[in-house]
Amino acid sequence: MTQARKKIILDLDTGIDDTLALAYALGSPELDVIGVTGTFGNVVVEQGVRNDLALLDLFGRADVPVFEGLPHASTKDSFATLDISRFIHGDNGVGNVELSESERKAETVSAVDFLVESVRKYGDDLVIVPTGPLTNIAAAVEKDPEFASRAHIVFMGGALTVPGNVTRWSEANINQDPEAADLVLRTCADVTMVGLDVTLQTLLTTAETAVWRETGTEAGRILADMTDYYIRSYDVTAPHLGGCGLHDPLAVGVAVDPSLVTTLARNMKVDTEEPTRGRTIGDDERLNDPNKNACVAVAVDVDRFLGELMDRIGSTIAAAKQHGEGS
Ligand code: RIB
Ligand code: CA
Repeated sequence: MTQARKKIILDLDTGIDDTLALAYALGSPELDVIGVTGTFGNVVVEQGVRNDLALLDLFGRADVPVFEGLPHASTKDSFATLDISRFIHGDNGVGNVELSESERKAETVSAVDFLVESVRKYGDDLVIVPTGPLTNIAAAVEKDPEFASRAHIVFMGGALTVPGNVTRWSEANINQDPEAADLVLRTCADVTMVGLDVTLQTLLTTAETAVWRETGTEAGRILADMTDYYIRSYDVTAPHLGGCGLHDPLAVGVAVDPSLVTTLARNMKVDTEEPTRGRTIGDDERLNDPNKNACVAVAVDVDRFLGELMDRIGSTIAAAKQHGEGS
């Protein structure tokens, strides 16, 4: 008997590694990507949504709907892309690689409403994978009193056993909206945190992107070109790593197969006050609560994940070629 595919919503700030997360999900036979919700972060939300629509066209998956999310953190009244994000992801979020603009538009339903409705409809058959600030997810928690108890969330963000990558304390996705992340970590019943503890152990080099380019396909070339841009930024900001961090695709990998990581069961919170604003840390007030709502990834099977990544992104590239040839 074939197993039903797990439904997944990706909440992306697209972003080069967000693109790799999308390609990983689309190439995973266990997953049914029912929608992409856009958030701000690596780029403004409108640019992220444009990227999502263009990438779905490129991968031959224009059937996947895209929903626009909130434009900034609830504690702020605007958002502007940080210089460091432009350096890492390029001005357009995809390494300044040109994508053909999609003729499709985002759906008229908002990202938050889509998240709320999908959790109500699919319950345990759905996993949500946020790979940007947790602003849309926190808004869904606030909108629907049952969302927190029913949603299954595997997010990329935070750092428990290693320093942050924006400040000493704070990882980029948490740093954009610490209050949202704090609400999600304190209230949601089933949260898996895939943070820098593990994502900086999974690295990609130009040896792997060359494999995509050598497919001779448009999707392979575009993925290789944008990821090489990302790798070059790591060569400047973190040369000791010897590659780029596979942050966002690892979160999708864990959503497909939790055995890729070892986790600690913890009750977590986010510091919202200086000097440690943005730190993901155990919640001292819930330390002795036997019910732990979060699993924090602290170790990863690097070789197995890299194998899965190359297989699954390879499948997406191959399917894109087939779709392009057939149309
Ligand atoms: O810290 C890494 C995270 O920040 C990734 O999700 C990356 O895409 C950026 O959003
Ligand atoms: Ca991201």
